[in-house]
Amino acid sequence: MCGIIGVTGAADALDILLDGLERLEYRGYDSAGVALVSPAGVDRVRIADGTHSVASLRGATEVLNGRSRSGVGHTRWATHGHPTEHNAHPHLDCSGRVALVHNGIIENHAELASRLTATGHILASDTDTEVLAHLIEEGLAAGDDLIAAVRSTLVEVRGAFALGVMSVDDPDLIVATRRISPLIVGLTDTASYLASDIPALLDRTRDLIALEDDQIAELRPGSVMVTDAQGAPATATVLRIDWDIDAAQKGGFKDFMSKEMADQPAAVRDTLRGRMGDDGMIALDQLDLSDDDLRLLTKVIVVACGSSFHAGLVAKYAFERWARIPVEVDIASEFRYRDPVLDATALVIGVSQSGETVDTLQAMRHARDDGARVVVVSNVVDSSMAREADGVLYTRAGPEIGVAATKTVLAQIAALELLALRLAQVRGEMTGEQVAVEFAELIRLESVLAETLGRAGDVAAVAAQLAHATDFFFLGRHAGFPTALEGALKLKEISYLHAEGYPGGELKHGPLAVIEPGCVVVAVATGGPLREKMLSNVSEVKSRGATVVLVLEDGDDEGAAVADYTFWVPASRDLQSPIKDIVPLQQFAYALAVGRGLDVDRPRNLAKTVTVE
Ligand code: G6P
Repeated sequence: MCGIIGVTGAADALDILLDGLERLEYRGYDSAGVALVSPAGVDRVRIADGTHSVASLRGATEVLNGRSRSGVGHTRWATHGHPTEHNAHPHLDCSGRVALVHNGIIENHAELASRLTATGHILASDTDTEVLAHLIEEGLAAGDDLIAAVRSTLVEVRGAFALGVMSVDDPDLIVATRRISPLIVGLTDTASYLASDIPALLDRTRDLIALEDDQIAELRPGSVMVTDAQGAPATATVLRIDWDIDAAQKGGFKDFMSKEMADQPAAVRDTLRGRMGDDGMIALDQLDLSDDDLRLLTKVIVVACGSSFHAGLVAKYAFERWARIPVEVDIASEFRYRDPVLDATALVIGVSQSGETVDTLQAMRHARDDGARVVVVSNVVDSSMAREADGVLYTRAGPEIGVAATKTVLAQIAALELLALRLAQVRGEMTGEQVAVEFAELIRLESVLAETLGRAGDVAAVAAQLAHATDFFFLGRHAGFPTALEGALKLKEISYLHAEGYPGGELKHGPLAVIEPGCVVVAVATGGPLREKMLSNVSEVKSRGATVVLVLEDGDDEGAAVADYTFWVPASRDLQSPIKDIVPLQQFAYALAVGRGLDVDRPRNLAKTVTVE
């Protein structure tokens, strides 16, 4: 997830770009850059300065003030290539006459890059984006104008993109287009704008067009023309937006947590994007483990903290069933103190959104020192763990600002399940067809998640009924157990209510003693192999007076008969089920916390990234 901005026809173009980038920083901040375009050429400045990138860019571009009335800018959240200045956008073609900014992932960038370099292009970055500038350069060299060159480039690329493209040959023109990644166009009488999101433009104009997939917009000072992929005029509806800027920065949501929950279908989709090769093999290019390495493994150990630990617990079921390899999942802060037995046939997987949590980092270092193979599943490119591990599997959830992890957890589960499928393929434990079925189910989750998110109102209505409860137990079995742990953790984190997660079968070994009227038991009883046993466990608490809320798959009337309240979710295969079953539990915690007037983005006593032991 990156942020892009563009303007043509404004005397203060540079300020517009920088102000817009500041508002788009929530989409990424590991580097930032602008290009001002005039007949004299492209003035480009790029800075990789972590969270200070946009501020540093403002300082570094003062000399460019007034240099041009048009330009594009970008704030980056790296997915391909390190977060360095030479990978920062805007990117240029070989001649330095084309400048472009991109948000998304070009899936076939590697094959395009080898074709371009074979014909003499020099690629100056390690990004997936830069190939686009060179493909457009080829179109221009063949006599196309910029719009035609962009159009023919789009035919060649696979993946997701929002693009702003400029050329010194027509410096008042910005060509903008999108597929999957969002792009907004703004209008005034004298200038035109583009941005990834509405907030970047709201102080300049409130007349906006949301471009549709494969539409191409031709932005000139004071005019915008929209065509479809074939070049025919397309209808573009101008929306008048009356949000205030603060709300708009959160995409119109009240807080980052609800925005990040809404991002979940895209987070899972982007994590899966391009990871099934044309040969039917799961492709994890930065993992850096050969097929022989994977075949020689005798065990997998996942180390993680907090919600990432829960993602690891879900993955255990997938690794063991699909790849038939023993798995241990350990709390990172405990791992190295238990003197784990490791050698080169052990694969240690650190799971960490930030890639900086010190306990997980230390656990990975310990494993590496003991000779294990070490990889990390991280959401932050070039995080400490990513730099130190033998290989990396990036989730592509975009920056997560809310302290309580939401979209990154679902993306971690999806990424770990991809790794389990890869291992199963290489070790001959699953056929191509079996892998294809499981992968297709992961892909289907984008729409399942969208549907689940749409039911937030039903969950909030249950939360309103239970607003006075103070004791919550979350139960689950099989993959529903880590789902329950995550539900309990979310509730504790943001509502400060007492919540515990338990495997359903453990109830009778203690917790049942504290169940009494007033306790709320939330149980995950979706369609896994232990659903029936879970329902019997629920009957045990119900008969002791607890209020029972069940997470059930649509149509499970038998389950609903046991419940006082129900969170309905669409059906899915059992190992993918936690990815969607966690959602109503997030929504439940959110509704209870908001009902208590709490700040869900910044819970008391907690930090997003914990760098002390
Ligand atoms: C903190 C955060 C949690 C997160 C945990 C692990 O406790 O508040 O939301 O799950 O750290 O963080 P990591 O970045 O390693 O996934």
